[in-house]
Amino acid sequence: MKRIAKTTAHAITNLSDTRVKSMAVKDIGALPASIIKFLNYIGVICFLGLIALSSCEVKPKVGFLMDSLEVERWDKDRALFEEKVKELGGIPLVEIAGSNADRQMEQAQKLIDEGVDVLVIVPVDLEKAGAIVKLAHKNYVPVISYDRLIKNCNLDYYISTDNINIGELQANYLTKISPTGNYILISGPTSDYNAYLLRLGWMNVLQPLVDKGDISIVLDEFSNFWLPDEAYRILSSYLKDNNDVDAVICGNDALASGAIAALQEYNKAGKVLLAGQDADIQAVRNIVAGNQTITIYKPIESLAYAAANAAIKIANGEAPSNMNITVNNGKRLVPAILLQASVVNSQNIKMTVIQEGYIGEQDIFN
Ligand code: GAL
Repeated sequence: MKRIAKTTAHAITNLSDTRVKSMAVKDIGALPASIIKFLNYIGVICFLGLIALSSCEVKPKVGFLMDSLEVERWDKDRALFEEKVKELGGIPLVEIAGSNADRQMEQAQKLIDEGVDVLVIVPVDLEKAGAIVKLAHKNYVPVISYDRLIKNCNLDYYISTDNINIGELQANYLTKISPTGNYILISGPTSDYNAYLLRLGWMNVLQPLVDKGDISIVLDEFSNFWLPDEAYRILSSYLKDNNDVDAVICGNDALASGAIAALQEYNKAGKVLLAGQDADIQAVRNIVAGNQTITIYKPIESLAYAAANAAIKIANGEAPSNMNITVNNGKRLVPAILLQASVVNSQNIKMTVIQEGYIGEQDIFN
């Protein structure tokens, strides 16, 4: 849809005013001819400028509020999203909150003041971001929740991967190798709804085995951040007093790398099954080295492109396509797209992340 600048109609009205005024000046004949000539010249220039302005399309502005770029994948999300928005004729405006929910709120206000037509949000905090949705709606700006669900608010759309399924993929893989034994679960922070969804997936697989008495969950903790130090802290405090662990399931690869550091200190790296998520370069190297069993590869390109496509459609007043399911965010059933992820193990690295161009072969094997 072509959007003509609101100002153009206004300006054309002003132009006719200018000509009327210049005619009036001529009639009066009180000004020297050179000034009248100059005024006419200005009038012609303005007229041509306004013709150009009225035929030009106003580009939709798409705000992208991100949490942090600390975890490797988010650089890719950002680049792909920006690229797609530009390709579709929009202007991406990106802000990074540095894991600070209050700052994310300020950044939302800033982008709204800059006139964004739609906001795409990776929420720092699943609940606090509800206030951003409220603020956006007050300003007639629709909101898409990206990767992480914003809870308990009138969120417009949600685009992510099926996080429960990711948890199931991780737990299924490890329990196939070790259907009995002691399992440790290290989740992401409780401020991120994905941490709960992943754990739900883990428990869908593990609970029946726990009930049968085959598996014991000897440690089950949420971290404060999605970062290596957190998993290192959690796991090493367990290993200090306990020796018996067969498998560790982590919410992402950053946590998994902290788990490896703890396992290494107790000479257990490579002897304990370990699952992560994100297909970080280091995680894939760890898989090659035998210190990590699997990671999960999420289709970041499809995710970013789906969000950019939806954002541009919404900004242009159209309904976004492919919102084929709904997800309950505690307040409403949010129209959503949930993409599928896949397992990366030592056998399929080339067929998955390398073949899809997600990671270069030389980055892994050098
Ligand atoms: C989660 C996301 C993960 C991981 C993590 C840390 O919400 O699902 O892929 O990147 O954030 O940023």
